[in-house]
Amino acid sequence: MTTTFKDLRSRFGFHTTPFTREIAVKDRFPLGQFDEVVEALLHTLEARMSCALIAPAGTGKTSVLRTVISKLPEARYRTHYVKVTGLSKRDMCREIAQAIGLPPAGSYPSLIRKLQDRFHETSDSTGLRPVLILDEAQDLRPDTLAMLKILTNFDMDSKLVLSILLAGQPKLRDLLRRDDLEDVARRLAHYATLRTLTRDEVHAYLDHRCTVAGAASVPFDSGAIDALFEIGRGNLRATDQLARKSLEVAHQHDRDACSAAEVAQARKLLWP
Ligand SMILES: Nc1ncnc2c1ncn2[C@@H]1O[C@H](COP(=O)(O)OP(=O)(O)OP(=O)(O)O)[C@@H](O)[C@H]1O
Ligand SMILES: [Mg+2]
Repeated sequence: MTTTFKDLRSRFGFHTTPFTREIAVKDRFPLGQFDEVVEALLHTLEARMSCALIAPAGTGKTSVLRTVISKLPEARYRTHYVKVTGLSKRDMCREIAQAIGLPPAGSYPSLIRKLQDRFHETSDSTGLRPVLILDEAQDLRPDTLAMLKILTNFDMDSKLVLSILLAGQPKLRDLLRRDDLEDVARRLAHYATLRTLTRDEVHAYLDHRCTVAGAASVPFDSGAIDALFEIGRGNLRATDQLARKSLEVAHQHDRDACSAAEVAQARKLLWP
């Protein structure tokens, strides 16, 4: 028997699906560490430099990037978000070309020239500062990552026409430690990271996500909250998946709140 959104709505009073993957910037959980990271990244970009956000899977990197994008004034910045896969240099150039509205055709050398020209033009003619955001950058190929140096004109030191924000899992840090990527690593003026949540923060997070989804009361008892923390280890994504599944289990048990038993069963269903 599957639990539908309608079931969750009528049982727990949600008006939108709780614990979804995407969350509106305005509905974010207001945690100090997110604000600090967002501020630090914005500060670096405002200083016309590049930076990196390196943190484990499911700790909120993409959500931080979306917040950064929402806070860069459109009157001054032109942001481009690209989700990285193991792209070759040429395919990465095509991807970036597409993101900035250039025809993604041509050889690698001609594409990179077109991109450089466009970034120059944008900052010269419109005064807009181009910011390229590469998410999931741990999957960048080393030669593709090295190409970013050319794109930002890292070696024409006087004028940096483009800021890059790299976000990725800890594998990105290993990549940036490679000898052949030292130049790129050194050009990143700020490295930010995110940690998992503490027990109290998980408690507050569950309250927050239930409240923004419209629940009048939070359908997790204290045993459930402890279990969610013990199993999810303060990782946002794991907590979301477990909380959502626990609600489904509670509904199937005809219960109006989750206890540790529902969370334990949810864990078995999710990660047998
Ligand atoms: N500030 C926040 N407020 C509320 N929920 C959040 C916040 N940040 C992240 N989340 C939730 O946590 C989950 C994981 O976040 P996100 O996808 O940003 O992680 P990630 O670090 O980008 O993971 P990955 O490395 O797998 O890409 C998402 O379901 C998201 O909705
Ligand atoms: Mg992500």
